[in-house]
Amino acid sequence: MGGCGLGRGRRTACLLLLLPPLLLFAVADAAASGKEKQGVSGKLRFRRESGTFKVVQVADMHYADGRSTACEDVLPSQVAGCTDLNTTAFLYRVFRAEDPDLVVFTGDNIYGADSTDAAKSMDAAIAPAIDMKLPWAAVIGNHDQEGTLSREGVMRHLVGMKNTLASFNPEGIEIDGYGNYNLEVSGVEGTSMDEKSVLNLYFLDSGDYSTVPSINGYGWIKASQQVWFQQTSSSLQAKYMNKNPKQKEPAPGLVFFHIPLPEFSSFTASNFTGVKQEGISSASINSGFFASMVEAGDVRAAFVGHDHINDFCGKLSGIQLCYAGGFGYHAYGKAGWSRRARVLSVQLEKTDSGEWRGVKSIKTWKRLDDKHLSTIDSEVLWNRGSNGKTLSYAWIRYLTQTCHSNCRVGGGFGE
Ligand SMILES: *[C@@H]1O[C@H](CO)[C@@H](O)[C@H](O)[C@H]1NC(C)=O
Ligand SMILES: *[C@@H]1O[C@H](CO)[C@@H](O)[C@H](O)[C@H]1NC(C)=O
Repeated sequence: MGGCGLGRGRRTACLLLLLPPLLLFAVADAAASGKEKQGVSGKLRFRRESGTFKVVQVADMHYADGRSTACEDVLPSQVAGCTDLNTTAFLYRVFRAEDPDLVVFTGDNIYGADSTDAAKSMDAAIAPAIDMKLPWAAVIGNHDQEGTLSREGVMRHLVGMKNTLASFNPEGIEIDGYGNYNLEVSGVEGTSMDEKSVLNLYFLDSGDYSTVPSINGYGWIKASQQVWFQQTSSSLQAKYMNKNPKQKEPAPGLVFFHIPLPEFSSFTASNFTGVKQEGISSASINSGFFASMVEAGDVRAAFVGHDHINDFCGKLSGIQLCYAGGFGYHAYGKAGWSRRARVLSVQLEKTDSGEWRGVKSIKTWKRLDDKHLSTIDSEVLWNRGSNGKTLSYAWIRYLTQTCHSNCRVGGGFGE
């Protein structure tokens, strides 16, 4: 092993080797903080006490006219008295149980064809989130526009609602669809990650139906949306990794849209968690969005709805592809198979000195609308593993190597 005991100038560098790895980083970060503050964009932020950020995904509420709209696919014994209001009651139950930091409605929020007034249906569908003062985001599916509002009209209505973080579309660019936007989740207030987006959420409009005569079936995420996604991801990654405190890996990204990608067909029961009880109703062509996500490099998971009785997550090329399972009672389902919601819990890493840093892990589970609001299929979607420690060991290796080439072998620390 090499030593460091040489001239005065090198002594400081060698002494750094004695510091515990994490402390070393704390020192570097303390020096960096205060410089180059980015604009505060974060309405969303990780919690100080727990270092967590929790999302409840609500897929396919299919809300219509409330009390007068009957449930579909429930047991014969459950038919009487079952309406859209059961969907509302489930929202309250799951929000009370999970206390989320964000609710994401992933489309078919309303079932336009059975709604007398699309705006009123949407207001009623989302009401529990607003009532409970929860920040919420939404994308549209293929049924939201089948009533009194167009796709554009539905999205315009959503972005005008209370407490919403949804946006119509990015400004200044031509883009397909309505409701393509991203949200940044900042690190814990008062830490060195306080101004940084440590978790990125992307929302895309996956369309409704093909408008190309020679292609049948559902819509897809178009090239213009993928270009926007890639540019957004790359600029977020540059900010995260190049600005103080510099980071080695991009902040994790989570993507939300309605219609599954063809790649959701890549799994069998041997390599997913959850169930697959119907086919994958993706578009009949592959527009390449999965490849775009893999290439971007920051996406760890994508969350969809659309197929109500599929609720699995499977990992392909480093990305978890997840269904939520159907939430709404006026949506098709499977009698006796509980309506459900997916929960995502993102956990920050804590340094040895007690400071919250970047994301350490992403977990998920589902909540069933049964008697006990059962939690099932709890799993880790992504784990940074040793994160900070990996960084620090890399540093130690670097410093040791520097020392090796500059210092005489055999000196030791004592002089
Ligand atoms: C729907 O709500 C009613 C009224 O609270 C309740 O009695 C009934 O059990 C619910 N049905 C289902 C399927 O949860
Ligand atoms: C899942 O397992 C099936 C059958 O064992 C295999 O054909 C498929 O390639 C696997 N998919 C992934 C994404 O690993």
